[in-house]
Amino acid sequence: MKTEQIGKPSNRVDGRAKVTGEAKYAAEFNAPNLAYGFVLNSAIARGTIKSIDTSKALALDGVLEVFTHENRPGYVWGDKNYQDEDSPPGSPFRPLYKSEIQFSMQPIALVVAETFELARYAATLVEVVYEPDEFESDFNANMEKAYKPKKYKSTPPQDPRGKPEEALAEAAVKIEQTYAHPSEHHNPMEMHASTVVWEGDGRITVYDKIQGVQNSQKYLTNAFGLDEAHVRVISPFVGGAFGSGLRPQYQLFLAVLAALQLKRSVRVVLTRQQMFSFGHRPKTVQRFAIGASEDGKLQAIQQDVFAETSKFEDYSEDVVIWPGVLYKCDNVKLSHKLVGLDVYTPLDMRAPGGTTGIYAMECAMDEMAYKLGMDPLEFRLKNYAEKDQNKDKLFSSKELKECYRQGAEKFGWSKRNPEPRSMKEGHNLVGWGMAHGAWEAKQQEAEAKATLTPDGKLTVGSATADIGTGTYTAMTQIAADTVGLPLENVTFQLGDSSLPKSPLEGGSWTVSSVGSAVKAVCDKVREKLLDLAQQLENSPVANVGLDEVTFADGKISLNTDPSKTVSILDALKQNGGQAIEEKVTSKPVEGQEKFSPYAHSATFVEVKVDEDLGTVKVTRVVSAIAGGRIINPKTARSQILGGMVWGIGAALEEETVMDNNLGRFINHDLDKYHVPVNADVHDMEVIFVEEKDEHVNPIGAKGLGEIGIVSVAPAIANAVFHATGKRIRELPITLDKLL
Ligand code: MOS
Repeated sequence: MKTEQIGKPSNRVDGRAKVTGEAKYAAEFNAPNLAYGFVLNSAIARGTIKSIDTSKALALDGVLEVFTHENRPGYVWGDKNYQDEDSPPGSPFRPLYKSEIQFSMQPIALVVAETFELARYAATLVEVVYEPDEFESDFNANMEKAYKPKKYKSTPPQDPRGKPEEALAEAAVKIEQTYAHPSEHHNPMEMHASTVVWEGDGRITVYDKIQGVQNSQKYLTNAFGLDEAHVRVISPFVGGAFGSGLRPQYQLFLAVLAALQLKRSVRVVLTRQQMFSFGHRPKTVQRFAIGASEDGKLQAIQQDVFAETSKFEDYSEDVVIWPGVLYKCDNVKLSHKLVGLDVYTPLDMRAPGGTTGIYAMECAMDEMAYKLGMDPLEFRLKNYAEKDQNKDKLFSSKELKECYRQGAEKFGWSKRNPEPRSMKEGHNLVGWGMAHGAWEAKQQEAEAKATLTPDGKLTVGSATADIGTGTYTAMTQIAADTVGLPLENVTFQLGDSSLPKSPLEGGSWTVSSVGSAVKAVCDKVREKLLDLAQQLENSPVANVGLDEVTFADGKISLNTDPSKTVSILDALKQNGGQAIEEKVTSKPVEGQEKFSPYAHSATFVEVKVDEDLGTVKVTRVVSAIAGGRIINPKTARSQILGGMVWGIGAALEEETVMDNNLGRFINHDLDKYHVPVNADVHDMEVIFVEEKDEHVNPIGAKGLGEIGIVSVAPAIANAVFHATGKRIRELPITLDKLL
């Protein structure tokens, strides 16, 4: 297709709304007579609520109700095994279902009052008597109880390939090491919030912070026995989510419960501390045993993963697929076991499984390269995977070698002295490290509709989300490009459960899934437009097929003679004053499954480590990305930069610390949970290498939401080794570990 809009670094179409405050988030929608709920969370990690006395709270003027498990109405909670779109196997936590406490900070009551402040104060007056039980929160202490889940949420570990034990035993060069990645929390800027508008006629409109409005809608119809037509969920803007909004969260349930019971509009917003009470990246401990020949060819890889889950759901993610995707090796053995703790179930967090799995693998491979006396980049080239060995399929495209080449050149990798501690600047030890990564480019089924009105304005819609990723802009570009209209004539609608069906916005699949649906529905509009243009008297485009014309600049023109044109407005006049309306369902096309689709990255990092203080500064990062076709280089670059910044956080700062005396994550605020700030972020460069992919999906784009983060933390860890000669095998690499 001719590209007028795709590939252009357009500003965000919603940029103005965002910077002027016109863009509204879930907690900003108002309703007359709005009441406010504040959540009370459990003080213990496991046990039972013996009694809960709400009388003092209820006695306050302006307090409307306190909802607990004791007064939860009987109609609430339908199918108790209900699985939302992102549920792991197990039995999902249901707020206020019973007196049992399953994790610290479990929501146990919602206090509803005329103001937020009053609700918050009244919550402090609720008197709870607990009967605590023994709990298990210590990951390391419970590793011996790790088990294989009956069912994996993620790809189950593949059966051994080749003869891993023998190959490992016979390998000339071996390494065997264990790497730990801590629990982390998402911490988007926007707190989770739901504003429920009581419409007065049995219907509710819910403004929810969520990555999939239809997932929330279905959850509510199950929990409250509501008719789908009576629940509309809206989420036009999301202030970051990173996976924290994939599953409906408890504030949604509690706000709707209160609205239905009080027959009144209700808003519930969580505090930053409460944002640490549901879902996190699970802690993992990974053992890698790798064998190679003297000349650096991999002979065997063994990866054993221990990962955190809750006692009530078997959460797992793709931690063990990466050796098969990124390294050619004939003998591979994998295991993935879960450690069940009395915590809330972990939750997908940006590149779930990729960040942890690729971190450990890439640090282990760096250790192997050193043991072999090989350049880490050369070592990766020597063991380059031409096909995905997990699926035994060729990649739909793979320009990773070009990522290596362009990334290394930009960074100046060839000037590296391989010797650790060899590059010094004053009291700073300088280290250069690299790593590579991948992320699957999945396409899901999605629907879209389009309306082209006689004035030439096109509206396209699908119930997806824009979690800051640039969905509005990318979809507008795809639609404008397909129909040949200027961007300002196109509006994309999302975040409304009444729009055509869309998958959750996650997994980096929105452009490939929803983008394909947008393209397909706009292709139908083109077809209709050509048909109308051909009905014109003496039509300049008569008797030609769709592939013989171009839609651009608001015109349909003949490829063989571009001076012969019909304007889209003139074609529309043939439609009797009616709009063109189309709707499609788009699925992966036949043949696509023959290939394995992945985006790839190569990251090169410079760190400076202060030898006296042990502080690490990431002074330079170059990431080269092969992500197929880039719809918008500007928003794409922002996506990758966000991932790179997070990689700094993962490598050096982020960790949610479990206090095993309390069974609680204790550093539950941004004072003690550290994320990168401007002072931590220095020179960063993003390169998009050209990659044509005819198999991945009709757009040729692979999605960029997650590929930006995966190779950054290991590249930093490897650079820290190069600088200091110290291998820190436990993230984050803080100064206490370095000194
Ligand atoms: Mo992503 S962790 O699928 O929002």
